[in-house]
Amino acid sequence: MYICTENINIELLNKKFKRYTVTAALPYANGPVHIGHLAGVYIPADIYVRYLRMCEQDVMFIGGSDEHGVPITIKARQQGVTPKDIVDKYHTIIKQSFEEFGITFDIYSRTSSAMHHQTAADFFKTLYEHGKFIEKTTQQYYDEENKQFLADRYITGECPFCHYERAYGDQCEKCGTSLNPTDLINPKSAISGKAPILKDTKHWYLPLNHYEMFFREWILEGHQSDWKTNVYGQCKSWIDQGLQPRAVTRDLDWGVKVPLPDAQGKVLYVWFDAPIGYISATKELTDDWEKYWKDPDTKLVHFIGKDNIVFHCLIFPAMLKAEGSYILPDNVPANEFLNLENNKISTSQNWAVWLHEYLQELPDKQDVLRYVLTACAPETKDNDFTWKDFQTRNNSELVAIFGNFVNRTVVLTEKYFQNQVPAITELTDLDKAAIAECAKNTGKKLRIALNITVSVKDLTS
Ligand code: MF3
Ligand code: ZN
Repeated sequence: MYICTENINIELLNKKFKRYTVTAALPYANGPVHIGHLAGVYIPADIYVRYLRMCEQDVMFIGGSDEHGVPITIKARQQGVTPKDIVDKYHTIIKQSFEEFGITFDIYSRTSSAMHHQTAADFFKTLYEHGKFIEKTTQQYYDEENKQFLADRYITGECPFCHYERAYGDQCEKCGTSLNPTDLINPKSAISGKAPILKDTKHWYLPLNHYEMFFREWILEGHQSDWKTNVYGQCKSWIDQGLQPRAVTRDLDWGVKVPLPDAQGKVLYVWFDAPIGYISATKELTDDWEKYWKDPDTKLVHFIGKDNIVFHCLIFPAMLKAEGSYILPDNVPANEFLNLENNKISTSQNWAVWLHEYLQELPDKQDVLRYVLTACAPETKDNDFTWKDFQTRNNSELVAIFGNFVNRTVVLTEKYFQNQVPAITELTDLDKAAIAECAKNTGKKLRIALNITVSVKDLTS
């Protein structure tokens, strides 16, 4: 039996939306997936989607690997392999572990696919042709020895704030300050180790500042009450600080090529191409993809981690708005982070519980992990995962409490009802009281098993 008790239920009963497009952030294919990803993004999205399907809604659940970006090229260089070797390896591991764990994507695609390259390039071209970009030539660091421009992460130097020696061109990992490459003291190329020179380069920018009024109306006025406070708060602070044009191309040879004649050696910025990956994946799955992206009766929901908020709430919606024929996200539920035994989960420090390893060691315990990570999901604040807690929840909550409940139900059904679930006839006062109790916090209506819709008012009056 299921009882739908969330707000969403009211929406379903009102039939506000015909259809749902649900996306889960595309993980970078530069490492496997860990419990932090699962608790923050994939399990919540999967629960939501399973629930919608149970209510017989038309749902499209999209996932895939994010296979571009500088960290992938850096990792390849460190290991002496190609970026393609890296993404092939991790895409395979990630895809398989999601399958085994039971995340029920309709499609799990990847941004290196031909369909994606075409879709992302076309999207850029449309915006370009409609004059949605501004072109700017600026000076950027260039490695003369290797004859290449240096993306932010390829430049290291001294942090001007805390004087840490190995800060990156976009951020100091010691004090957390976000930086521009030219802020670094004694910058060095991470490739040759030499001091880079500054050289002119042209790029295309999305003028986010032109969208300020749109964001104010759409988010600040339109979604104050239904978006999570962490999401709304971050958007508000970005908008209030004043939005700046954002470069959507990079000098790099790994990514979607900029589809313009004067853009040799340039690719789309990974945060421009990756969210388009949600669209490409839908296209890959069905020719009927447009109804999931362009019909206002479709509700678009992005599940993400908190470090993705600006990209999914501001940059991607500005792109969709600029293109003009797409719907906008209706909600962007972002979770906080999960720590592991009181320390920050870190791919580079190898401090994580990796999903594929968990599945190897405990091959039939998917649901235990799903349960524990649901119970300690970092919904409103960072949360902590410990193996002690895992053990307690397994032994006392799943085995003792839930196991006992199931056992009694089955035993008593056998003893008193000849092993059959009796049909609902008339609800007793006790049944009504139980349903009313469940409904207390939700307000309006409950839909209970066997498609009986009961008005809470009827029950409580
Ligand atoms: N790869 C990004 C991350 O792990 C998420 C990309 S989401 C997408 O933070 F929308 F850009 F695809
Ligand atoms: Zn610093």
